[in-house]
Amino acid sequence: MMQLLSAGGWAGARMTFMAGAVALLVAGCGQQAGDETVAADAPVPAAVAERQEGFKALGASFKLINDQLKTDAPDMAQIVPAAERMNVLASQIPTWFPAGTGPDDGVKTDALATVWTDPAGFSAAQARLAEATTRLQELAIAGDAAGLREHVKMVGASCGGCHDNFRVEQ
Ligand code: HEC
Repeated sequence: MMQLLSAGGWAGARMTFMAGAVALLVAGCGQQAGDETVAADAPVPAAVAERQEGFKALGASFKLINDQLKTDAPDMAQIVPAAERMNVLASQIPTWFPAGTGPDDGVKTDALATVWTDPAGFSAAQARLAEATTRLQELAIAGDAAGLREHVKMVGASCGGCHDNFRVEQ
């Protein structure tokens, strides 16, 4: 009886151990699908590289504009082309997220799957930015520094509004 019990106890312990090992294996697979392994092995699709470059350019132009607006005499000769560039890039965003370039496709990206599962929400967030950059360009062409200083807040909020829902938290 004692022997049986202890054998049962051992079998139970063994099963617990094996369940633990399986859980570890599964966790290991999850890890592999995470950033590091994908980054090392997976080729970055051209579309992902292109959109990340596009967002970098968007960020760089926005920084230029904000830096100029902090000065006493913002240089409209620099602000106008930067605002135009932002407006063009904002209008291109819808072409930057083809199917097969999301986090569930084994691609290293900071885009969340919600870009593809909530296309209406993503499209609305893009439209908000495109409207804001159109206005930004108008104010820049008008040379309205005070208006620009106020409006960049709206532009920044449009960036953040999309990032909050569609980009990995930074
Ligand atoms: C409609 C959604 C959306 C809007 C609007 C948006 N972004 Fe992003 N942004 C993203 C997503 C998604 C990523 C992640 C892309 C990836 O990693 O594949 C990203 C990434 C970035 C990056 C990192 C690029 C890199 O990989 O180095 C920067 C910088 C950036 N965005 C700046 C901005 C700025 C500045 C604005 C506003 C002027 C803005 N974004 C507006 C969705 C958006």
